[in-house]
Amino acid sequence: MSDHPNLHVVDLPLSRHKLSVLRDERTRHREFRQAMHELALILVAEATRRMPTSTVKVHTPLAETEVEEISGPICLVPVLRAGLGMLEGALALLPEATVGFMGLFRDERTAEPVEYYVNLPRNLKDYFVVVLDPMLATGGSLSATLAKLKEEGAVWISCVHAVAAVPGIERVTREHPDVSFYTAAVDPGLDERAFIVPGLGDAGDRLYGTL
Ligand code: PRP
Repeated sequence: MSDHPNLHVVDLPLSRHKLSVLRDERTRHREFRQAMHELALILVAEATRRMPTSTVKVHTPLAETEVEEISGPICLVPVLRAGLGMLEGALALLPEATVGFMGLFRDERTAEPVEYYVNLPRNLKDYFVVVLDPMLATGGSLSATLAKLKEEGAVWISCVHAVAAVPGIERVTREHPDVSFYTAAVDPGLDERAFIVPGLGDAGDRLYGTL
């Protein structure tokens, strides 16, 4: 994956542990949601690396010093449904963020994304946009999401995933070389239904108990 300078694999003992809970088929939806929430905290913190900051002066109890604070608005965009599993974690770190929504599901026959709901803030060009979707499989859903965000003016975009499969990575890094991608794991491939293998199953179904 060294060919993709914009792909960042977040590989810490803590992220590996959260992923172990998510991958285990015995994990029920309550624990699955909790582990996804906690993994989002780690991944979103990494995805803030490229956020613009500005230097300001503050007085500590002892002296004046320069500190950095995040400057400019942030927009979180969960891709429904599974992206909702990362939203509360992202908002815990970025409580002032605006939230936009991309509603997409994959047609089970073709694995092509079908758009059913879009609600994004105006003037997306002013925002640092963070897309949340636990799964990057074929890359169809993310590619459609990124195209939509750019159509709405977004220029500065980072994407956060629990698991990304090689075919999806190849596609989105080729089609969107200006976007950064953060994932806890890179999985080798997809099965005949375009599910990530080994992956963690259908993240939406496992988060919300609709198996
Ligand atoms: C899953 C997942 C991604 C997409 C990834 O969503 O959350 O959005 O599939 O697949 P792709 O890279 O091949 O497009 P799904 O369509 O299962 O919808 P859901 O989140 O509502 O369950």
